[in-house]
Amino acid sequence: MKVLNRFHKFGFGIVFGFLIGFLWSLIYSYEGTSFFHETLVKKEVLPQVYVITPTYRRQEQLADLTRLGYTLKHVPNLLWLLIEDSDSLNPLVADLLKKINVPFVHLNGKVLSILIPNSLSFSNISARIPEEYQKKKGKPRGVSNRNLGLEWIKKNATDGAFYFADDDNTYDPELFEEIRKTVNVSMFPVGVCTPYQVSSPIVRDGKIIGFYDGWKAGRKFPVDMAGFAVGGKFLLSRPNATMSFVMGKEEEDFLRSLDPFEISDIELLASNCTKILVWHTRTQKNAEAPAIDVKYNDTNLVELRKILVLVWHTQTVKTEKSKQIDHEKYGNTNLEQLAKLIV
Ligand code: UGA
Ligand code: MN
Repeated sequence: MKVLNRFHKFGFGIVFGFLIGFLWSLIYSYEGTSFFHETLVKKEVLPQVYVITPTYRRQEQLADLTRLGYTLKHVPNLLWLLIEDSDSLNPLVADLLKKINVPFVHLNGKVLSILIPNSLSFSNISARIPEEYQKKKGKPRGVSNRNLGLEWIKKNATDGAFYFADDDNTYDPELFEEIRKTVNVSMFPVGVCTPYQVSSPIVRDGKIIGFYDGWKAGRKFPVDMAGFAVGGKFLLSRPNATMSFVMGKEEEDFLRSLDPFEISDIELLASNCTKILVWHTRTQKNAEAPAIDVKYNDTNLVELRKILVLVWHTQTVKTEKSKQIDHEKYGNTNLEQLAKLIV
């Protein structure tokens, strides 16, 4: 009996050892390709990327969010903070988020406390644009949502980096791998729908010497909203960081609120600002769908009308004739490479 018991133990030892070895090989041997490696090992070392996206109900919203959501799905260790400028969360957006299945937080001031632990103090903050701006012709778009996102980051994030990603832009997934490298404040080129076609820091010999942007307006940081990212730890060290409701000065005032922060502190990404990994595109606005004639009351159109209220046919707006980059003035800078990308 004793011999048999020993044999059993021995056998068990072998099986156990084999199992451990097998698990080990699953996790480590297929580095980079194994599901186990991706989820158990790699995730821990990749800094988190937080994407703050302001959004609002309109005809093109679901189309824009579909495109953006499936782009984000290519990026590991990313949390999407989708923040609605509304009084209540749109269930169509909630359904879409669940379907796309990118890790997300769907925010609006009123439901925040239910969705996120430790966020009770937010329960009275609305992401709706304040009333005084609602009726203005040129209202600052997406500011209240971004500020709510900032509050969430301040409260919940300790590491990683965050980025303001408008819902109608076009993003190369590689952009987020660049953003992940951000420690304090990073910047990179943005393709824009103006004759300049690009907005970027100007870099000579690895150093920033100014900004190339069609609309400087006396700004210290003449950059696009899509052209910078901020480190999580850095934000925590800047409790006054906030975006102002001054139209056209959103980026400028936010970057100034990061004081102390100087142009020389900027971390340059996208191969020293020679690549365009994000475009400030615009989806053409469509008229609201007309009411559906009663003669269709027994058709599928009734169901569609409930979901859509909108036209899904989108078209990217055409840009005016481009402005050539002055090679004499910008010789030896990153703009020479960027010029190759301009039509
Ligand atoms: C540009 C800038 O890139 C924005 O960052 C800036 O907020 C805006 O101008 C401005 O200065 O008002 P643009 O493409 O012209 O952006 O604006 P939209 O795409 O219409 O809006 C920017 C973001 O705010 C979008 O993600 C949009 O969904 C959101 N938004 C817009 C709202 O949350 N509420 C609104 O009423 C309008
Ligand atoms: Mn836009």
